[in-house]
Amino acid sequence: MSTRREAVLREMGLAPLWRLRSAADDAVVAGVEAAEPSPLEEARPVGVSVTATGPSRAGSAGAGAMSTSARPSPVRQYLPQAPSVSAAEPAPDSGPLVDPARRERIAGLDWEQLEADIRECRACRLCEKRKQAVPGVGDRQAQWMLVGEGPGAEEDQRGEPFVGAAGKLLEAMLAAIGLKRGDGVYIANTVKCRPPMNRTPQADEIATCFPYLQRQIELVRPRILIALGRPAAQALLDTEVSIGASRGRVFQYRGTPVVVTYHPAYLLRNQTDKAKAWEDLCFARKVASTPGAQDSTQG
Ligand code: URA
Repeated sequence: MSTRREAVLREMGLAPLWRLRSAADDAVVAGVEAAEPSPLEEARPVGVSVTATGPSRAGSAGAGAMSTSARPSPVRQYLPQAPSVSAAEPAPDSGPLVDPARRERIAGLDWEQLEADIRECRACRLCEKRKQAVPGVGDRQAQWMLVGEGPGAEEDQRGEPFVGAAGKLLEAMLAAIGLKRGDGVYIANTVKCRPPMNRTPQADEIATCFPYLQRQIELVRPRILIALGRPAAQALLDTEVSIGASRGRVFQYRGTPVVVTYHPAYLLRNQTDKAKAWEDLCFARKVASTPGAQDSTQG
C-alpha cells in the first residue's frame, strides 16, 4: 500500500483494518487499484451487484416507482425486485409548498443566476439566521455529485459546503477511492442555509429548497448521485428512507443512479461504520463505471 493511501485510510479510521483483498472483492470493487489491499475487515457480499434491469429512462413510471406523493415523483428504484424504501410514510413533498412559478423560474437559471438566486433566497425561515447561503462547490461537469444535509457553522461562515470536520472526513473518503474535491466531483447540500443549532432541516425547508438542488443536478448531469445521510436520501428519493436498509442498492433520481450512504458527521460519531461508508463508495464507483447503470436524461 502506498504511503499516501495508507495516510488516507488512517485518516478515515480504516488503516488498521486492512487485509489482502480476495478475487471476489475485486469483482465488486471495480476500478480500485488492483494491487492494493482493501481496508475492510469484511468484504461486501459479492451478491451485491449492479443490475441494470430496472427502468433506466427518466419518466418511465413502470415497476419500481416508489413515490407516495401527488407530484410527479423523481423516484425510480433501480432494482424493482428488491424494494428497500418504505412507501408507507410520505416524504417531504414540495407540491403545495413550492410555488410552481418559482420552481419553473429556478429550472431555467444558468449557473451564475442560480448561485445568485440561492444567495439572495428568502423563501423559508432558514434565511433568518444564516450568515450566508451556501450554494455548492466543485466541478460543474462532475461525474460524481455528492449531496449533504445542510451547511454547519463553518460552512455558514465560509460560504462553502463541507469545510468543517465532516468535510475533512469526506475528503479523506473521496481520496480513498481516488477522487478529489473539485476534480470530477461536485458537492451540494439539500438545504442551502444553515439550520439553527445545526438541527436537521425540516420537511418544508427541504421542499422549499429542492428546486435549487434539482437545478444543480440538471446542470451538472452527473453519472452518479451520492446521498449523504437521511435528509439527502429522502429529498432525492422523495420518500422515507432508512440508510441501513438502502445501502448497497441503486435508486434513481430522474434517470441518474443514486447510492445512499452515511453522512460524514454521523461517521465522526460512529467510527465503526466508516468501513461501511467505504464499501458504499466502492459500490458507487462500480455503479458509476457500469455501462447502462446511468442515464442522465432529466425529466
Ligand atoms: N454537513 C452537511 O451536510 N453539509 C455541509 O456542508 C457541512 C456539514
